[in-house]
Amino acid sequence: MKVTGHFDETRGLYPTGRIGLVPTMGFLHEGHISLLKAARNACDLVVMSLYVNGLQFGDPSDLAEYPRDRERDLGLAAEAGVDVVFAPDDATMYPDGDETRVSVPSVAATMEGEFRPGHFEGVATVVAKLFAGLQPDMAFFGMKDAQQLAVVTRMAEDLAMPVEVVGLPIVRESDGLALSSRNVRLDPDLRDAALSLSRGLFAAAERAEAGELDGPSLEEVAMDAMEAAALTKPEYATLAGSADAERIPRLDRPAFLAVAAGVGSVRLIDNIHFSLEGTRVVADRGVVITRTSMLYEGAPRRADTITGGGSDAAGS
Ligand code: PAJ
Repeated sequence: MKVTGHFDETRGLYPTGRIGLVPTMGFLHEGHISLLKAARNACDLVVMSLYVNGLQFGDPSDLAEYPRDRERDLGLAAEAGVDVVFAPDDATMYPDGDETRVSVPSVAATMEGEFRPGHFEGVATVVAKLFAGLQPDMAFFGMKDAQQLAVVTRMAEDLAMPVEVVGLPIVRESDGLALSSRNVRLDPDLRDAALSLSRGLFAAAERAEAGELDGPSLEEVAMDAMEAAALTKPEYATLAGSADAERIPRLDRPAFLAVAAGVGSVRLIDNIHFSLEGTRVVADRGVVITRTSMLYEGAPRRADTITGGGSDAAGS
C-alpha cells in the first residue's frame, strides 16, 4: 500500500483498469471497511482518501474534537486491501487563492443543510476536487449519510463527471446504533441515549411496513423516541425522497426517514431507507455487526468498559 499527498503522484500509480475511490475523514470503522471491500470487489485499484475537511465543519469545536488516528487508519486500510491512501494536507486541498465552491442548493436545502449551513457546500467542493484530481471510475459512499449521497450523486450528474457513484447500506453496532467515528465520544449514559435514534427509526419502519404511509405520522414516531430519551436534543425527523432529499408528505416513492440529535455534546445522524415493491413498503435496516466494533479497539475509552460518567466523557 502506498501513501501519497498529491493528486498527480496518486494518478501516476494507476494501472490500466477501473479505479475505485472511497472518500473518508478517517478514524475507520466497519462502515468504512464495507465501502473499501465493495471497492476492492468492483475495481482494479482502490484509492482511499483520508482528509478531515475543515470546509464542511461549521462548528470549530466539532472539527477540533473530530477523532483522528493516522497510524491506526493506515493499518486498517492496508488490511482492507487498499492500494493507495491519498492523505493530502490543507495546502494541497485548499492552496492560497483557492476560491471555487460547489453547491447543490435544492438537495442541500433540508435536514443537514438546514441545521448545518454551509456543510454541503464543503462536502460537494471537497468531493468535486477528489473526483477531478483523482479521476476515479467509481466512488463509494454510505447510505448512513443519505443526504450527502444525494448531493454527491446530483453533483456528479450535473457536472457530467465520468464517475459512477455507488451507495451502500448502513452498518450498525450490535445494539442498532449506526457506526460513526463520533461514537467513541459516547460514555455509557450517552450511548443509551443515542440508541433512541435507531429505536425510533426501527419503530417507524415497522409502522411503514404495516401500511402507515403518512409522512408526519412516521416522523412523529421517530421524534417521540428521541424526545423520550434523556440527554438527547432532537433536531429533526424528516421523511425525504431518496433522489432529491426533499421532504415528502407521503411514502409513495423511494425515500428515507432521517433523524438528527445532539446527544450530550455529540451530534449524531441516522436514517432508514424505504423502497416500494408494488404497494408494499420494504425498509432497509442496514447491516449489523456481531462483535464489538473496531472503533473501541485501542481507543482511549472503550464504550463497553466505561463504568463512571466522568466529566470528560462527552468528549470535552
Ligand atoms: P466519513 O464520515 O469518514 O465517512 C466516509 C464514508 O463512510 C461516507 O460515505 C459515509 O457515508 C460512510 N459511512 C460512515 N458511517 C457509515 C456506516 N455506519 N455505514 C455505512 N457507511 C458509513 O462522509 C464523510 O466522511 C465526508 O463527508 C467525506 C465524504 C469524506 C467528504 O469530506
